[in-house]
Amino acid sequence: MSFRGLSTLSVHGGEARRKPENVLTTPIYQTATYPFSRMAERLAYNEGKLSRLTYGRYGNPTQRAAEEKLAALEGGEDALLFASGMAAITTTFLTFLSQGDHLLFVDQCYWQTRTFATELLPRLGVEVGFVPRWAPGEVEAAVRANTKVIFAEVPTNPHLHVPDLRELAGVARECGAVLIVDSTMASPINLRPLELGADVVIHSATKYLGGHNDLLAGAAVSDAETIEKIKATRDYLGGIPDPHGAYLLIRGIKTLAVRVRHQNQAAQRIAEFLEGRPEVRRVYYPGLPSHPHHHIAVKQLSGFGGVVSFELEADAETTSRFLDALKLPYMASSFGGVESLVEQSALTSFCKFTPKERAELGIAESLVRLSVGLEDPEDLIADLAQALEEAFRS
Ligand SMILES: Cc1ncc(COP(=O)(O)O)c(C=O)c1O
Repeated sequence: MSFRGLSTLSVHGGEARRKPENVLTTPIYQTATYPFSRMAERLAYNEGKLSRLTYGRYGNPTQRAAEEKLAALEGGEDALLFASGMAAITTTFLTFLSQGDHLLFVDQCYWQTRTFATELLPRLGVEVGFVPRWAPGEVEAAVRANTKVIFAEVPTNPHLHVPDLRELAGVARECGAVLIVDSTMASPINLRPLELGADVVIHSATKYLGGHNDLLAGAAVSDAETIEKIKATRDYLGGIPDPHGAYLLIRGIKTLAVRVRHQNQAAQRIAEFLEGRPEVRRVYYPGLPSHPHHHIAVKQLSGFGGVVSFELEADAETTSRFLDALKLPYMASSFGGVESLVEQSALTSFCKFTPKERAELGIAESLVRLSVGLEDPEDLIADLAQALEEAFRS
């Protein structure tokens, strides 16, 4: 009998029912290498007659259990774990791109993903193109004969745009490109990219998957053949996680479904509260009918996520005063964990960009990104209300 519920898969997916010494939880195999007992064993391994682990950079049982859990949750044949989301992204890009190829970015993306694409890839002879804002037909118009990879974050960070994945999958199929989707913001609970036609799903497992703001990890999920190709690149690039990090990830994923469903509901309430406040100019949340991609979000997502971005009717200083007045969310970059986090995007994630670049990217000085944690939504709303009053008092 196979169980398909996402809560069940979060808890049990990928884990062996019987484990060594009859323990319940997957052990941490904290080892760098795996000795052979005799040379005959090594030779049998060399000749392909024996399958086993040899060295920590090529695999680890704790890491493997996390990979199998992720594959089960995301509905892929296999998965790979990485030391960080960026390791997952860079290793996957480098697997599919060579000199003379074209990589097409759709809509917004995490700034370091963009930096990798604009700083390093051109030095390797890869051409990089951007569709700055997804709209129907724009991606089809931007592909070229040499487009090998189409990349999109869904939803995007920080404006939570929702590019239509079925459309992107159609374009990718048509031009023979690999469609890579960074689904970090959605998690497997809210979005099923492989079912919608993506070839590879990427996660910064640092966010919702880990869920406790205490680990860095990344993941790629796909069919077995594609994962084998990406693994060959990971084997020499070396961005694999520590076994202890893999254990923490397994533990975090067990509560993924309940956490994300709570965060979906709490963020929706908070977005509606903020939209009703006179101090707030605009709220970006795909669960609000006012969001430009709400009509796609309702079809594509099964939950709208735990991040709410909004602009205050204020300058940068008043916005900073609002952040200073908040008592519950920590002022920190990241999202998806149990503690609510808040940032003034222009002065944190986008602080290295010039004001002109920020304006082009739509990053207003008063843009606030709130990652809703697991606190009671009533407490978060009360905190947001008192901080708005405090910031706008003078
Ligand atoms: C959407 C998205 N993808 C990838 C990353 C990179 O992940 P990591 O910080 O785990 O390397 C981030 C980090 O914030 C992100 O927001």
